[in-house]
Amino acid sequence: MRILDHPILGKLEPRKTVRIEVDGKPIEALEGEPIAAALVAHGIKTFRYTRRFNKPRGIFCAIGQCTDCVMVVNGIPNTRTCITTVEDGMKVETQHGLGRRQ
Ligand code: FES
Repeated sequence: MRILDHPILGKLEPRKTVRIEVDGKPIEALEGEPIAAALVAHGIKTFRYTRRFNKPRGIFCAIGQCTDCVMVVNGIPNTRTCITTVEDGMKVETQHGLGRRQ
């Protein structure tokens, strides 16, 4: 889901799209948007699973403070997807526990 006409921010202007890969599946994202926004726009709400209890986590603060949104991005674990912008060809993976550098 995307907000196309926000009451304060106004209408979403047309933007170039880029392609990213999420757990092996390609999705389209808007150039310059955070990874987390692209995922939510495609209905993806679980970004990681906790180390101790394997509980799902997703966006919580959306300002880079809580680490609930961390994923493995281009092989680098613990990347905060709410403050990392998409790049064409980026590979994003659900993180399990503390993640592993690839
Ligand atoms: S949602 Fe809190 S750091 Fe990303």
